[in-house]
Amino acid sequence: MVTTIGEFGTLAGGQVHSWIDDPSARAAAPVLRGRSILSDLDLSRAEVDALVETALWLKTQRERSQPHPYLAGKTLGMLFQHPSTRTRNAFQAGMEQLGGHATFLGAQDLQLTRGETLPDTAQILSRYVDGIAARFGAHEDLITFMGGASVPVYNALTERFHPIEALSDLLTLHDRFGGLKGLKLAYMGDGNNVCHSLMLSGTAAGMHVTVASPDGFEPDATLVARARELAAQSGGSILVTPDPAAAASGVDAIYTDVHESMGQPDDPHKRVALAPYKVTQALMAEARPTAVFMHCLPMQRDVEVEAAVADGPQSIVFEQAANRLHMHKAVLLLTMG
Ligand code: CP
Ligand code: NVA
Repeated sequence: MVTTIGEFGTLAGGQVHSWIDDPSARAAAPVLRGRSILSDLDLSRAEVDALVETALWLKTQRERSQPHPYLAGKTLGMLFQHPSTRTRNAFQAGMEQLGGHATFLGAQDLQLTRGETLPDTAQILSRYVDGIAARFGAHEDLITFMGGASVPVYNALTERFHPIEALSDLLTLHDRFGGLKGLKLAYMGDGNNVCHSLMLSGTAAGMHVTVASPDGFEPDATLVARARELAAQSGGSILVTPDPAAAASGVDAIYTDVHESMGQPDDPHKRVALAPYKVTQALMAEARPTAVFMHCLPMQRDVEVEAAVADGPQSIVFEQAANRLHMHKAVLLLTMG
């Protein structure tokens, strides 16, 4: 028996049948080889579909302990200016599970600290490794770095975007609800990097995304306008409102992120402004009974989310974190394989 799973693939005899297994489907699949991912806007809808399908397939392969040494002999460089638990280790474990290697390049250990430029650093590293995951504060630094690179560069988070997080979150939602089109998601709080990526990737996938943020902490207006264009093409929608309860009404997922991102100074005014956007049990009750709670992590319990929600039955935050591995592997496989 073959059962369609969403718009991506098929489950045949309990096994995800991927286009990777099928030479004719593979020939028709979007070509991501050699591509960088700096923001969500770098990927077409078909490419996002291919990544989600591949990640679903890799996930079932992992559950069956199937080794896939597609990246044997390849090395990923990981240049991080900020700490990371999920992104760094999902890249590292993902590379190793695909038969390759990953090497950590702490920004403090490179000659960048003595003034070597970002493009020079990228030129040199491109001669040693086959792809570079980079986490910078300023998004402009990532673009400058990319200017010198001749291998794929993956945005491992900047202040403006967190695209592979959003791709993983689409995988989690797809896994949970069996598809993405028409799903309703409310994002609560700071209109930050995670919010930007979620809003762009979500609307491109045909989701209805509502962002509830206080005055002064809304997502970037140009990106909201871009999300509106994507929604017009996909049948989704985007709405920004200051009203958390209205945003949460009838949605399938409530998502939040920390109120103070890495590299940001402590801002007491922001803390006060964002306090009413905390995800509480009362706010969860506005959503559908089947709704899930999502957070990219790390989270601060009882700041942006009540501990009872974070650790409650609707929370899928650890499933979300687990899916980072599968999506990182899909990105590596399709761009570097
Ligand atoms: N969500 C996320 O990117 O987590 P890390 O900062 O631990 O990588
Ligand atoms: N917005 C957060 C996300 C962490 C994964 C930050 O930038 O610190």
